[in-house]
Amino acid sequence: MKTVKELSTEEKLRLICGKGRWHTEDFGGKLPNVMVADGPMGLRMERYTEDGKREAIPAVAYPAIQLLANTWSTECAQQMGKCLAEDCLERGVDILLAPGVNIKRDPLNGRNFEYFSEDPYLAGTMAENYIDGLQSHGVGVCLKHFCANNSEYDRLHQTSDVDERTLREIYYVPFEIACKAKPVSVMCSYNRVNGTYAAEYKKGFDALRGDFGFDGAIFSDWDAVRDRTASAKAGLDIEMPFNEKNYEKLVADYRAGKLSDEELDACAERVLHLVARCKEMRKGKTVSSTEKERRREAKRIASEGIVLLKNEGVLPLAKGQSVFVCGSFAKASPGQLRGGGSACVRWVKEKFDLPEELSARGFAVDYEKAFLINDTGAWQNARTAVLKAGRSDVNVVCVGTGDGIEYEDGDRKTLRLPAVQERAILDTAAQNPNTVVVLFAGSAIDVSAWVDRVKAVVYAGFTGEGGDEAIADILAGITVPSGKLSETFPRSLQDVPAANTYKRAGVTRYQDGLDVGYRYYDTYGVPVAFPFGHGLSYASFAYSGLRAVRKGDTVTVTFEIENTSKTAGKEVAQVYVRECAPLVYRPFKELKGYAKAAIGAGEKKTVRIELPMRAFAHWSAASDAWEVTEGDYEILVGSSSADIRLRAKITLTEQQL
Ligand code: BGC
Repeated sequence: MKTVKELSTEEKLRLICGKGRWHTEDFGGKLPNVMVADGPMGLRMERYTEDGKREAIPAVAYPAIQLLANTWSTECAQQMGKCLAEDCLERGVDILLAPGVNIKRDPLNGRNFEYFSEDPYLAGTMAENYIDGLQSHGVGVCLKHFCANNSEYDRLHQTSDVDERTLREIYYVPFEIACKAKPVSVMCSYNRVNGTYAAEYKKGFDALRGDFGFDGAIFSDWDAVRDRTASAKAGLDIEMPFNEKNYEKLVADYRAGKLSDEELDACAERVLHLVARCKEMRKGKTVSSTEKERRREAKRIASEGIVLLKNEGVLPLAKGQSVFVCGSFAKASPGQLRGGGSACVRWVKEKFDLPEELSARGFAVDYEKAFLINDTGAWQNARTAVLKAGRSDVNVVCVGTGDGIEYEDGDRKTLRLPAVQERAILDTAAQNPNTVVVLFAGSAIDVSAWVDRVKAVVYAGFTGEGGDEAIADILAGITVPSGKLSETFPRSLQDVPAANTYKRAGVTRYQDGLDVGYRYYDTYGVPVAFPFGHGLSYASFAYSGLRAVRKGDTVTVTFEIENTSKTAGKEVAQVYVRECAPLVYRPFKELKGYAKAAIGAGEKKTVRIELPMRAFAHWSAASDAWEVTEGDYEILVGSSSADIRLRAKITLTEQQL
């Protein structure tokens, strides 16, 4: 491998601009290079057919990141990373352009399905494990999109106007935590941050490298660079894809003395280091699973993330019941079960068929397509569907969004489902009190028009290709649901703070500050449809015996969970911290730990979670540093953010940071 000293100035200038769309420069084979590819929930690559047409290569479609986050399982995140790494190894991909860890500030954000959570700790820790899964199996990641890219609205120009404390406590944290897994690269976002393009955001890059220990290379988002010189000066190492005009301007700027040799060398050196690191990472790594096994994993992860939002005794289905399945989502085309844009995967699997999967599990199933996704497709065969719904034991209505509603480069217009879908739920539920709604959507939905009229709601999310089997297992009681919401379902858009802040003429003001998601609903007592961390089970769990003990810089929290039912299940326990009498504003409580435990019927398990001092800290605008205020803190242990089961108090007497 060459060192930067062995490269000519021309070569260095060329090296910090990519080669084509998916490679780093290799000077005609003189230098090794890396190949990158999307995306977060399945490999997206293209090939040319014999007649010269471009087509996507089929790949295993894993659950969307949103659904992975609903598993609250670091093991699932590791496993999905491992499977994706093996897909990449098979196709010669060195770096997967994933994961995205942007915070779900606004439920309308068109890319929320690609992101983990409204909570930075959950997003960061899940991403950390996903990255570790990929990189420990030989494939690098590109952590994205840095930063404050929380909406697709006017994304190439819009500036996110956000204060430093909010950046530090909310928007940086997922990147900061994910950096513990040593990602080989980070991708900047398209937007501006406080007026500066993310591609030129030196202050943020310095935080990444200086404070979060990031030691990899920074890529631009595709075509996010306006001024290659300014971005190189800020520390952006590789512009993607190659842009002739930008390159020529860069060369001219260099000649005019606008970019120093130190600045150029710093970027070029990091590109060389990236290539060497990726090659090293890959050494000796072989594919240990078959595609079939990875597809099985995709299904298993989906089963762990599907959330039972509501259940008034109708689920699981009883043996041999007659089930009417209604709605095109039950036999969805892939486009109905994924979001659009760079995260789009062409599925290996050819058929998604929930009615068939239910039949295979012993139910008498009837199906009507009844309605398409949006209002242009009318509520078809309404009378037949309504009659069939009324004549079956259980009516299962499958509704959702898909890539025509949730996609990159645009935000959703509404939190509600298309009117035809709401109508179908209401009309069939009027005939059958045992109505179950299965919801296929990549982010929160306003359920207020129909939720009180149905007995159960299963939030499937964008399941990927194993969804039909995973949902059938949950409906049939073969799998006990264990997913929990990684984002709040607000009652309506009006209740969402981000929807009520200044957003005009290219400027989005983050005047909601720290009050994102449950931090806001909790602090201000705003009721929600389904709270952050919520998810029901067929089992039931009792919490007891909370202890919080401080030793040095760590508070160790232990408690017991008992499965008080006759059904084995998994429980996600959540640990929140609340400062009792803060000297600066703090949201009511914040998630600082969680654990998912498999607990057999009647069994009791001890859960232990360690909280570092950082779990108690806030970013002090007075000292530009993390600070722990002396005083009392409550440790709140809950089954959801709204269902706190145990409380303990701890007094911190010394400043530890
Ligand atoms: C997206 C990135 C993606 C890249 C390459 C951009 O438009 O924002 O997330 O990785 O394209 O496809």
